[in-house]
Amino acid sequence: MRQILSLNNDWRFHLGDLEQNVPLNKPAVVYQSKTVRKLMGPAAYHYDDSEKGYRDAKCELRDEGWHNVDLPHDYIVTQAPKEGRNAQKGFFDYENAWYRKHFTLKPEWAAEKRICLEFDGIAHEATVYLNGILIKRSFAAAVSFSVDISELVYFDKENVIAVYVNGKEHDGWWYAGAGIYRDVRLVVTEPVSIDRYGIYAPARKKEDGSWAVELEATLRNDSYEAAEISVTSVILDGDGQEIACGQAEGTLSLRQTQMLPYSIPVENPTLWNPDAPYLYTAWTRLYRGQQLVDENKVRIGFRTVSADAKNGLLINGKPVFINGVNCHQDFAFTGLAVPDNMNRYKLELLKQMGTNGFRTAHYPHKESTMDMLDEMGFLVVDETRRFDTTDDGMSQLEFLIKRDRNHPSVIFWSTSNEEPNHITDIGRKIHKAMVHKIRTMDPDRLILCAENFDPTASAVFADCDVIGINYNLHTYDTVHAQYPDKAILATECCSTDTTRGWYLVKESETAPDSGPRSWCLDHDRSEKYPGRAYSWSFLKKRPWVIGGYQWSGIDYRGEAQWPAIGARSGAIDMFLQKKSAFYLNQSFWLEDPMVHIASHWNWKGLEQQAVEIHVYSNCRRVELIHNGISLGCQQIEPYSYSIWQVPYEPGTLEAVGYREDQPVCRDLIQTTKPACKLQLIPENTAASQEDLLLFTCLCLDEDGREVPDADPLVTFAAQGGKVIATGSDNCDHTPVNNPVRQMYAGRITVAVKPEAKEVTLFATASGLGTARTQVVI
Ligand code: GAL
Repeated sequence: MRQILSLNNDWRFHLGDLEQNVPLNKPAVVYQSKTVRKLMGPAAYHYDDSEKGYRDAKCELRDEGWHNVDLPHDYIVTQAPKEGRNAQKGFFDYENAWYRKHFTLKPEWAAEKRICLEFDGIAHEATVYLNGILIKRSFAAAVSFSVDISELVYFDKENVIAVYVNGKEHDGWWYAGAGIYRDVRLVVTEPVSIDRYGIYAPARKKEDGSWAVELEATLRNDSYEAAEISVTSVILDGDGQEIACGQAEGTLSLRQTQMLPYSIPVENPTLWNPDAPYLYTAWTRLYRGQQLVDENKVRIGFRTVSADAKNGLLINGKPVFINGVNCHQDFAFTGLAVPDNMNRYKLELLKQMGTNGFRTAHYPHKESTMDMLDEMGFLVVDETRRFDTTDDGMSQLEFLIKRDRNHPSVIFWSTSNEEPNHITDIGRKIHKAMVHKIRTMDPDRLILCAENFDPTASAVFADCDVIGINYNLHTYDTVHAQYPDKAILATECCSTDTTRGWYLVKESETAPDSGPRSWCLDHDRSEKYPGRAYSWSFLKKRPWVIGGYQWSGIDYRGEAQWPAIGARSGAIDMFLQKKSAFYLNQSFWLEDPMVHIASHWNWKGLEQQAVEIHVYSNCRRVELIHNGISLGCQQIEPYSYSIWQVPYEPGTLEAVGYREDQPVCRDLIQTTKPACKLQLIPENTAASQEDLLLFTCLCLDEDGREVPDADPLVTFAAQGGKVIATGSDNCDHTPVNNPVRQMYAGRITVAVKPEAKEVTLFATASGLGTARTQVVI
């Protein structure tokens, strides 16, 4: 039976290139026993990566800079950003590095097991060696790969993996990170087994209205004799009850991989939809003769999807508008190496904001993230990185489709983003070839690309099921006239820089990014940019537009202008605190009544001056009350907000939202007294030892109110865990792993790596004492 062994722990790591001896009478790679092995240098079996001393290779140069790390690992993110370094890449020095890992296998596996070594992602390029043998060159940071090492491993002695990471290479315009940033594992199977991503289980509705899972099981026989096999799949409902099953049998010739199709009728399945993302499991078991040799579980969902200009996007025949966001995969605290509980937390925040769509800009995201997107009911644009028909480009595309085609959340495949070739004949051919490839692997899903190079001159839209346009709102009507039957989707829109908690008095009087540290006004912007309100009302006015994905859901590292070190277009900041846009989106996307004042009320020094206040609400009528006196009501049109000029006087400012003349929601901001103590709030504590705990540190005044403009220098320490990162202002250049942090706009986010069941976090600041909080994981 299949065994999966994590290889995430106890790697040796060396930052930087290593000098190697050049042998005088042999090359560094020597052919002996007909197998090319590295005999010298850090890829070699005998290379000594220990703290001190040599093993066999006495003549080798040796570096002592090796230390232990666990994966996932990104070795760039803890640097101090430096002005003058690449702005797109987050102002870091990108360096190369070596990793080595020693492991042993059970001697009894030597008989006939198939052993594969799998890496889910190495940024950015890498060369992987096993026992000195080069087994893989990887050029695609977000693509998982598996190498059959059955004939290369030792069963009677230690094995050594060596990975050279070329971290200086990168191909995007965002933070690229570097390191083995996703999981590594050994997969040990019988010689007859289910292929990698070998179960394709599309749930299809037939013309007569009945449903079937039209399963395709790809099975392999790596032995040297034919194998009689049978394969059975049962469909389990959300409670684990078997509701249907199907099977097939056959003979696998020796050394053959074969696909066996079989259809499993399912009666009246509960459908998957964004509001109720019901999931089933297809559990497949493979028998060789009578013996169970392998099994596999994939989750699936029953839903129909169609999109055209007339009916819009229909999920199970019902119209759905996509209120989506684009996200990169990084997290400011850990770079590309994001623990699952942090990815889940990010998605939960997006759900709280009312989002129902997620675009995996601009490459395959982590496999576990795809599972979460299914569970939470997101409508996903799943994008491949390369727009080309080279072997490598096509194999990246093939990987994406194979890996993700069982996910009900994946509604669209995207072949590409903003390619200049979208308007050339070469681009037309590339896109056509990619579309053809996708259709052969998945005939069911909608295909698009995200175009911004003059959408009116597109060479690829004719071959798209849905037209994806980035920005360029002025071209929509023309493009619609050109393709009157096709639905249009804003694959990107709304990109507006904002800094959490930075509210100037009047946008009109001050440039939006003129804060003392280049902070940007935390308000939506007008038509000029155009911002969220303008874009959403534009999209909503056109019935042939099926939705939009805002750029972006969450701030990310890179793509920044010094002194900012990260892009600021998110509705949530880099440290996962909510910005005004979070609430603006809520006012567009949530049904339950909400109102939010996008400001604080600590404007000391501005007494009697007019302060510009933006109020967001999904109630059409909002009243503002200042120190108990009503300032009147304003009407808020859909996808809009109200703006007030309020002469500042300390006290309270309250907004009340009305529905049918009844007050249904309120928001209150108050002038606070100076901060007198710290408070720690656990934010994300659903964690295992592989995960991170997340806390917010804030300041309270003597009446227990949060002080929104507090800015003390706070020192953090933990018991039962380690403070691994702190962050508050994305213009702060102190390395992210520094446990001392200047608070900006009243909040610091803190991450702790748990090392015990009980974790206590302490925060201390001069004059504010020490706050503590404890969580049990
Ligand atoms: C788009 C691009 C995104 C991001 C965004 C910033 O053109 O596709 O990756 O760079 O602009 O606004």
